[in-house]
This record gives sequence, structure tokens and C-alpha cells, in this order.
Amino acid sequence: MPSFDELLSGKGVFVDKSVLSPHYIPETLHFRDEEIRKIMLGVAPVLQGTKAKNLFIYGGTGTGKTSSVRQVIAKLKERGVANVYSTYMNCRVYDSRYKVLQKIISDFKPHFSKTGHSFSVLYEELLDWLEQGSGEEKKGRHLIVALDEIDVVKDLDNLVYTLVRINDDVQRGSLAIIGVSNKVNFKQRLDPRSKSALYEEEVVFQPYNAEQLSGILRNRAASAFEKGVVDESAVNLASAIAAGENGDARYALLLLLRAGELCEELPDKKISDSEIERARKLADEDKAFEVISTLPEHQQLLLYSLACLAEDVSYRKLVEDNGEKLYFSGEVYERYASLSRKLGRDPRSSRWYREYLNELELLGLVQMVGSGKGVRGHTTLLKLAYDAPRVKKAVEKTIMAE
Ligand SMILES: Nc1ncnc2c1ncn2[C@@H]1O[C@H](COP(=O)(O)OP(=O)(O)OP(=O)(O)O)[C@@H](O)[C@H]1O
Ligand SMILES: [Mg+2]
Repeated sequence: MPSFDELLSGKGVFVDKSVLSPHYIPETLHFRDEEIRKIMLGVAPVLQGTKAKNLFIYGGTGTGKTSSVRQVIAKLKERGVANVYSTYMNCRVYDSRYKVLQKIISDFKPHFSKTGHSFSVLYEELLDWLEQGSGEEKKGRHLIVALDEIDVVKDLDNLVYTLVRINDDVQRGSLAIIGVSNKVNFKQRLDPRSKSALYEEEVVFQPYNAEQLSGILRNRAASAFEKGVVDESAVNLASAIAAGENGDARYALLLLLRAGELCEELPDKKISDSEIERARKLADEDKAFEVISTLPEHQQLLLYSLACLAEDVSYRKLVEDNGEKLYFSGEVYERYASLSRKLGRDPRSSRWYREYLNELELLGLVQMVGSGKGVRGHTTLLKLAYDAPRVKKAVEKTIMAE
């Protein structure tokens, strides 16, 4: 007989669900020794009182870049060496030169008022702080600034140029950058001067293979789940799927988390292959819905109109093909136009509408089918790739909320 405590806590599946969350920072990162070593080598000069190397870290999503950088920064802080400083920030939040400078200053000079300064005041302030140093000898401070997702910074060349130039303007002390990005074309967007400055040293994170992913998952599963919940073969399946999705460890962990949630509802509380397969569907939907929220307004309205048609059981003008419901593109346009007007927006022309459809198809949200035999003319038929109510909800959450 189970105890009440057992029944109330975790329902016999999870010991600690947070171990699988994307925010959890694992104690040890497996399979990244070489990459971490390179980052540490780049950073190490500050421990001897000279400038660190500027590093650029590149690799696909979920390959452990953020985790590795944060770990190195944490290790550096642990050393507690005087006049050595480091800060980590995600540029989604600090997305301009001004904001990055502001963040650095507020990290190290908490009493300096945060708003209302011109850029040059902030720059002078940072210069001053670097030069002074905290010790009696006034040797200057050595700072490392890690800029994660650096590709989203708007005035990127200015930022890199400024942070590099600061080293020419200080008598003592130094500043070095660790830039992190998963964008393949990032390099080409930089002007040559910032490029050569930022790429003193480059560290590339390769995608994980299935074997590495299952090592990571097994490790994490051991502290996330009760004993015996996860099948060995389920771990292998999740790893194989994620290896096929660009070797993304975050995706692999998400599969395991969703599978765990699914099996909480099952009588035998076991994660086997079928839970992983179901989790994969859910995870793909999660991804799609994230995409929907970032779409331009009219594309969302268009998607919403298609979802409304798909939900409308009284609607008879659809084409059924092997149980799949397809809708006339022209009909969807009508709905879209009237919905836009209802919301006080000008509907876009049908030429734009074609463009939008193409983009939605590329994103895998809508399928376009040229009408075959039996349907008049050159009509395009549309099919929604996901469940209509969930698509509607995703749109309602963003634009229709107003
Ligand atoms: N070697 C590893 N060992 C254990 N967990 C890992 C490892 N690599 C990645 N992870 C886990 O995978 C997830 C994604 O890792 P991380 O955030 O470091 O990826 P990233 O390369 O920064 O991805 P993105 O480019 O999307 O920002 C995290 O939850 C992290 O804990
Ligand atoms: Mg990251």
C-alpha cells in the first residue's frame, strides 16, 4: 500500500522536475571538456593581470554554449582574484550598445544612477572604473563581458568597436568580450574591423550525436525521475530523435520532460517509446506556437482565419482528401479580409496574401496543395498543419489580446 505522502508528492514519476527545465544548470557538462578548456585559456590571462582574449563562440542551438560560458564565468568568480571581474548578459534583454554599457556599470557601480546619462558619460564612467582598480596599488581592473546571443544587438558594430577601443583609452586595466551566437551568417554581418577584433579566438560547438545525447539524458533522468520510471530504450529513442534535430540537447531534455508529464496520467508510470513519440508531437507543437507569436500581425490574422474555417462544422465548401480537410484559398482570403476589417485593420491585397501563404508554408504552419482533378481551375487548397483550437489560442494570446 502506498503512503499518503507518496501519493501527494510527485505522483511517483518525478523526484525533481526542475532538473529537466531549460533553466537548470547542470553541475558537469559532459563532452565539452575541449571547448571549455579553450574558453578558459582565452580568459586565463586576467588571472595574471593582463587582458583576456576576445572570444567568439559559435554553434547550433542546444549545443551547450550558454552553459559552458556560464560555467567558466562561475569558475573565474570562484577564484575571487582581486581586480578580476566578469559579467554575463543575454543580449535579448540588452540589445544595444547603450544598454550593454548601462548593464556593466550597474553591475559594478550600483550607486551610479541608472538612467538619463548620455552614451559618453557612461563610457567615461566605465573607463574610470577600469583604470582605478580596487587595490592600493591601483593596478587597474580586468573585465570580461560575456554577450550571449550577441547577434540580436542592433548597433552591433558600434558595440564591438566601443568595447575594443576602450583598451586603447585606458592606461591600466582591460576589457575583453566573449560573444556567443547560433546564427550561421553572423560573421558576414560584421564589418571587417569588428570582425577581426571579435574573432581573436573562435570556439565552435559541434552538434551532439545520439550517443552523447543519451549520455546527457541518462545523467539528467537519474536525478529527475523515480527509479525505474524511464526505459533504457526510451532514452535512446529520445536521443536519436534529438540527434536528427541538429543535435539539440535542449530538445532532447524537453522530450523527456513532456514524456514524464504524459506518464503521470498513466496507471503504470513508465516512460517507454510510445510516450517519447507522443512527447515529440507535443514538443513540435510547442515550437510551432512559439513561432506563431513572433509572426507579423497579418500573417497571424490569416492563420486565425484558416483556423476559424477549420473549426466551423457547418462549413460545407471544403474538400476532403483521405480524411484531410482542405479549404479554398479564396475563401480563406475572404474570411481574413473581413476579420481584418472587424479589427479595424486594412486587409492586405491578394498579392500580399500569396506572399504570406508562402512564408507560412515555409514555417510548416500551413500546407498548400494545388487542386488536382475534380476541382475547378487553378485553385490552391489550404490545410492547417496543427490543431485549429490550439492555433487560435496562440494567436489570441498575442494580437487578439488587445
Ligand atoms: N554537455 C551537456 N551536459 C549536460 N547538459 C547539457 C549539455 N549541453 C547542453 N545541455 C543542456 O541542454 C540545454 C541547452 O544548453 P545551452 O543553453 O547551453 O545551449 P546553447 O548552445 O546556449 O543553445 P542556444 O544557441 O539555443 O542558446 C540546457 O538545459 C543544458 O543544461
Ligand atoms: Mg544559449
